[in-house]
Amino acid sequence: MTATTEQRTPGTGTGTAQPLCRQGGGEIQPYGTLTRMPLGLEEKACAASVAALNQILADTMALRDLYKKHHWQVAGHTFYQLHLLFDKHHAEQSTLVDGIAERIQLLGGVSLAMAHDVAETSTVPRPPRGREEVPVQLSRLLEAHEIILKETRRYAREASANGDDGTNDFLISDVIRTNELQVWFVAEHLVDTPTVRAGRNGRAGGAAE
Ligand SMILES: [Fe+2]
Repeated sequence: MTATTEQRTPGTGTGTAQPLCRQGGGEIQPYGTLTRMPLGLEEKACAASVAALNQILADTMALRDLYKKHHWQVAGHTFYQLHLLFDKHHAEQSTLVDGIAERIQLLGGVSLAMAHDVAETSTVPRPPRGREEVPVQLSRLLEAHEIILKETRRYAREASANGDDGTNDFLISDVIRTNELQVWFVAEHLVDTPTVRAGRNGRAGGAAE
């Protein structure tokens, strides 16, 4: 036997370059538990923020996916602008999802991640699988935004009371302000204003009577 063959892992014939696939094992941290980070925060403050952030995370992931659903399924004469707007808001909600999940981890918690866990946790009403009219799509989005805004303001105040100023600032500066701005952009599409001929107090010009 040569020196080269002696160094190989018995039975593989490929040495240490062989990927060690199909490995199993238990969790290193179960969901709902907390590791302690040297953040200068009390354990109960971290636990409260993690629980709050996971609820906001689930609802934000539901809203993010609602935007993509509507991006794909929108119909009608405003198709193009709404197709683009929904995708822009989807990208901004995706950024929030990452920020929320990473804040949960840095506080020592475990973030939700998978769709079935989100479905069990989110309080955003489940839409049908099929396509809906634009006003219904817009109303669904506004309802989801309002659910998130209400709970996030409450959780931001709780975080402040617990001394978790970082979570308080993140929830206000990122989550609340992003959602408030998106509400404006969506809600203005539900103003019933004429698109060609001015309404009651308007006066058409140019064409002869
Ligand atoms: Fe797309």
